[in-house]
Amino acid sequence: MRPKVTIIGSGFVGSTSAHWIAAKELADVVLLDIIEGIPQGKALDLAEAAPIEGFDLHIRGTNDYGDTAGSDVIVVTSGAPRKPGMSREDLIKVNATITRDCISKAAPLSPNAVIVMVNNPLDTMAYLAREVSGFPRNRVVGQAGVLDSARYRTFIAHEAGVSVEDVQAMLMGGHGDEMVPLPRFTTIGGIPVTEFISAERLDAIVDRARRGGGEIVNLLKTGSAYFAPSAATVQMVEAIVRDKKRVIPCAAYLEGEYGLHDLYFGVPVVLGAGGIERIIELPLDAHEQALVERSAAAVRSSIDALKGA
Ligand code: 2OP
Repeated sequence: MRPKVTIIGSGFVGSTSAHWIAAKELADVVLLDIIEGIPQGKALDLAEAAPIEGFDLHIRGTNDYGDTAGSDVIVVTSGAPRKPGMSREDLIKVNATITRDCISKAAPLSPNAVIVMVNNPLDTMAYLAREVSGFPRNRVVGQAGVLDSARYRTFIAHEAGVSVEDVQAMLMGGHGDEMVPLPRFTTIGGIPVTEFISAERLDAIVDRARRGGGEIVNLLKTGSAYFAPSAATVQMVEAIVRDKKRVIPCAAYLEGEYGLHDLYFGVPVVLGAGGIERIIELPLDAHEQALVERSAAAVRSSIDALKGA
């Protein structure tokens, strides 16, 4: 039997996630939205690409949570995107209402699923999803680190004139401008990145990666990024449904790791069939730990805003 993945939200991120899942022939897909017709139309359109691309999957669009029952993975993309000038935190109120609604409907129907949160503010919505679902922390994970590190890897590859495939990078922290790229854990073909790129250029790349989401919002003006966010989401879905045990940065609920408690925060994890199977604690130096704490303070204030919302 093929795995079943529910994607809640059939906007750009949701439907493009369905597209990547189909292209990789990973799982049957249920695309759910409250708007009638859109998930059905997008799902049918994607299903009709199957004979050309050669994927044998069931792809279904629906407005009915009953169709999501028994999912192995639930991806939550629904919510408002940013507009120019907005921070991810500006979305808390509206996206918290949406998240509460969809998690309270979807989680009881798929009690063994891994929930992958994608809507913003990412770490805060993951925090809320864990609370509402009552799932153990390993089965509620936030997507952000894969996206942020993909942006960072793209800029490094362009700067160094090398293949993106050979750039390995780790970053930590909340999905915001305070995120913490870790040049010390960044290599190109196993060689420290500092052999290819000067410290000054690397600082500029780190800065651009931090603001990567905003850069796209400012260009699009009417929404936020979706190709890279959905590709990042599907890398996580693949790790789960194929039990790949990928070592990637994800937002995880911390209970003392890195000295942090009771918040979602981007950290290196092992992602497999059990969701977050392990949190990896890197030995950080004082400067890196200070950056982590600054990012954690930003996530904490967002969670506090959620509690007040
Ligand atoms: C981004 O960074 C939408 O937060 C997402 O593009």
